[in-house]
Amino acid sequence: MKLTTRYPFSAAHRLHSNQLSEDANWAVYGRCNNPYGHGHNYWLEVTVAGEPDADTGMLVDRRQLDKCVSEEILSRVSHVNLNEQVEELKDLVPTTENVAYVFADWLKSGWGKHFKDGAVRFDRIRIYETRNNRFEIQANEVRQ
Ligand code: NI
Repeated sequence: MKLTTRYPFSAAHRLHSNQLSEDANWAVYGRCNNPYGHGHNYWLEVTVAGEPDADTGMLVDRRQLDKCVSEEILSRVSHVNLNEQVEELKDLVPTTENVAYVFADWLKSGWGKHFKDGAVRFDRIRIYETRNNRFEIQANEVRQ
């Protein structure tokens, strides 16, 4: 069984690759290459998997999940500049593709602190960047 919970967060970024010329950056990223950056109101969805506990009837303690997502992800990205203030993104273009890899990595490495018995697993995250774009990464696609 799976449960998905949604969390809003806001952050700023600028899409700019040091590997590309100024012209190429503009051609690829357009207005998202604006040197002053821009903000997004993102939604993060975290999906967990497992079996409901026989005594509680619940797959996961939602307060525990909220605490985990807040500590491992939201506290590090809420109202920050993703280019400047997130160490893991300093050498990456903070596209939502790259942001998804970083979030999944944080969640996977921090999971055991919050869910010690292993009964509930991190399954997938989705990040909605705009109303029209949603990015998704499975726990087994984490690169590290
Ligand atoms: Ni953007």
